[in-house]
Amino acid sequence: MQSDTRKKLLDLFSEANGDFISGQKISDILGCSRTAVWKHIEDLRKEGFELEAVRRLGYRIVSTPDKITENEIRLGLKTNTLGQTIHFQEEVTSTQKIAHQLAHEGAKEGTLVVAELQTAGRGRMDRTWFSPKGTGVWMSLILRPPIPPQKTPQLTLLSAVAIAQAIQEVTGLVPDIKWPNDILMNGKKCVGILTELQADPDRVHSVIIGMGLNVNHEREQFPEEIRDIATSLAIEKGEKINRARLIQEVMLKLETLYRQYLQHGFMPIKLLWEGYAISIGKEITARTLNGTIRGWARGITEEGVLILEDHDGAIHYIHSADISV
Ligand code: BTN
Repeated sequence: MQSDTRKKLLDLFSEANGDFISGQKISDILGCSRTAVWKHIEDLRKEGFELEAVRRLGYRIVSTPDKITENEIRLGLKTNTLGQTIHFQEEVTSTQKIAHQLAHEGAKEGTLVVAELQTAGRGRMDRTWFSPKGTGVWMSLILRPPIPPQKTPQLTLLSAVAIAQAIQEVTGLVPDIKWPNDILMNGKKCVGILTELQADPDRVHSVIIGMGLNVNHEREQFPEEIRDIATSLAIEKGEKINRARLIQEVMLKLETLYRQYLQHGFMPIKLLWEGYAISIGKEITARTLNGTIRGWARGITEEGVLILEDHDGAIHYIHSADISV
């Protein structure tokens, strides 16, 4: 949408003060067709505006996108290290890319990259991650754990537990975790985690934990192809959630679990993870980059790897896959 059209439309809604404006009036003032008005409304929705449309009455603005700023995140952040250095940008290609660059340049453990919008958000298994403006939490955290590379999947599971705990604390909702680290509400995905490494064969330089939380999206904001499999915390809770507060809580839970992990190992984390896990003990299909295996999920190893028993009784150790029950 051109910026002067956008401004006119927002001025109109602002003058209406929450009341309905007819589609005809909008089209007269903007000097465009009713179809164009509808497209402008859709554009605003994509930017995070909540708009109600009622036949014969027109459109009404219900809420504007909430913004996160670096100061808002800082204010009330109770951690010692995680998130204490923040790189905040309005728009990035991917926070992962920036975090990789910073880690390469020697950024401290706990450095956090946060953006309002990702134009090329990346998901697991070479997929894209839908990252619109003003609705989600798109962030990447740099850790420098003193562990060998084969143990880093444990941090993936640890992150999932931390985010699940934070969601529970901030919203009261109790999420499920689907191996390894998809966070679901009522069977639909609301959080994805992408863990990447900078490592030599025997030494980890950094672990970049990319976290994508669908927080205040409305259902119509999701692209059609994921509308039935994705959800947001606001959809599940029935009200908007303060994103800065959520980031603070994720950092706090992550810091607590990470400290516990470095002191006592993976066992306590594994138990917490199992408490949230669905699909363990069930018959599942694992789609890996090398093929599909169906069988029973028997549990996870000490390393956080999924143990799958196929129908011939053969055991497969799955390091990376998409799971469906
Ligand atoms: C998944 O596929 O489930 C993982 C999605 C991870 C998305 C997050 S959003 C912040 C960070 N930056 C990215 O480009 N990806 C991760």
